[in-house]
Amino acid sequence: MRIWSAAASTGQEAYSLAMLLLEENLAGWNIQILGTDFASQTVERARSGKYYQIEVNRGLPAKLLLKYFRRAGVDWQLSDAVRQMARFETIDLRQSMRALGPFDLVFCRNVMIYFDAETKKAILQQLHGTLNRGGWLLLGSAESAFGVEEWFERLTVESATVYTAR
Ligand SMILES: C[S@@+](CC[C@H](N)C(=O)[O-])C[C@H]1O[C@@H](n2cnc3c(N)ncnc32)[C@H](O)[C@@H]1O
Repeated sequence: MRIWSAAASTGQEAYSLAMLLLEENLAGWNIQILGTDFASQTVERARSGKYYQIEVNRGLPAKLLLKYFRRAGVDWQLSDAVRQMARFETIDLRQSMRALGPFDLVFCRNVMIYFDAETKKAILQQLHGTLNRGGWLLLGSAESAFGVEEWFERLTVESATVYTAR
């Protein structure tokens, strides 16, 4: 299973996925998680797997904090078992992404707001090109992908909107 966290910021999404998958005990699965962001300093922080107290307080269940992190002074260090499930690269979403795929699942959340309509459409087309047929694209809860019906089918899965690649 190949998963891409695009615009991954400091890596919380990629590592959250890694922890969730570890909790599912998917022994025998080959799982690859890629996190990318265009800001190299945030990519460096993601690679370090080190988080401030205020960051681990934002929605991380205490059970997962105690299981997968250890204290590092006043901060928290993510375990190597989780860190090695994700790798991080510096990538600008406005450049070609052809070499990145194929992925089964792409998260591209809360970044489209930075782009004009034309750039957003070009990025959505590129994201489609990185997905396996039937693969899922997840955008931020306040974001949508209008005018891309030729590439994606919009589905509601429980309370989430999912775009499946045609
Ligand atoms: C609001 S944060 C969202 C982070 C994360 N996806 C989330 O939902 O919490 C936006 C991120 O997009 C990144 N970003 C902005 N423009 C970008 C671009 N052209 N290519 C790649 N990343 C970009 C920023 O560096 C930042 O980490």
